[in-house]
Amino acid sequence: MKIIMLGAPGAGKGTQAKMIAEKYSVPHVSTGDIFRANIKNGTELGMEAKKYMDQGLLVPDELTVRILLDRVAKDDCKNGYVLDGFPRTIPQAQVLDEALTKLGDKIDYAINVDVPDENIIKRMSGRRACLTCGATYHIEHIPPKKEGICDTCGSELVLRDDDKAETVKNRLDVYHKQTQPLIDFYSEKGVLKAVDGTLPMEEVFAAITAILG
Ligand code: AP5
Ligand code: MG
Repeated sequence: MKIIMLGAPGAGKGTQAKMIAEKYSVPHVSTGDIFRANIKNGTELGMEAKKYMDQGLLVPDELTVRILLDRVAKDDCKNGYVLDGFPRTIPQAQVLDEALTKLGDKIDYAINVDVPDENIIKRMSGRRACLTCGATYHIEHIPPKKEGICDTCGSELVLRDDDKAETVKNRLDVYHKQTQPLIDFYSEKGVLKAVDGTLPMEEVFAAITAILG
């Protein structure tokens, strides 16, 4: 099963993608997590990506596409994957489409997690992220068992650099201009499904599993 998560920054793509990955035993592939892991490890790729991410801008397509195609070519992606944060532009979607078509394959579902902009800003300031394993928490809605510590791997939780209010605003602008057109792109392919992302995360997940079966 090959799934794409669509939705604004902070809509809950990562939260839901992790739950999908667990239930359906497919890897969770997040380009944002890959970039953040590289930043944390001080790689060249990380340095390059950080320049864009800190401003709330997209990392150039060329770089992002290369990383994503390398990742999904790995063995663990043979039976499918859930993509979170990719594609984010029409050219990225086209490259993915072409790569899959070459393999006689296709995306099964593009799930749009729908959350209005007003809700997004509130969510981001409360988010805490684990830069080691990619887990995400919210200080009010989804707190970790021990404050400031990741339940999964025990690392320290942080407020992401790009979760500052001003940067979130830029990310939302970028989302509306560059990423929202993907909703029509996947709708035309007949694979688009939408869920109400303002509901509690268990209810959002129930709506998604009702779609995926
Ligand atoms: P990325 O890491 O993908 O960030 P994003 O899309 O901006 O999305 P977020 O991770 O912020 O939100 P999310 O939808 O995953 O929400 P989450 O589940 O955490 O990308 C970061 C940057 O990397 C980009 O800006 C860009 O620069 C670069 N990049 C990445 N991919 C790229 C690409 N393909 N091309 C170019 N550049 C790329 O939830 C948010 C918060 O809400 C959390 O605190 C969570 O606990 C809470 N929450 C979740 N669900 C609920 C709920 N139902 N109710 C209440 N709270 C909830
Ligand atoms: Mg995310």
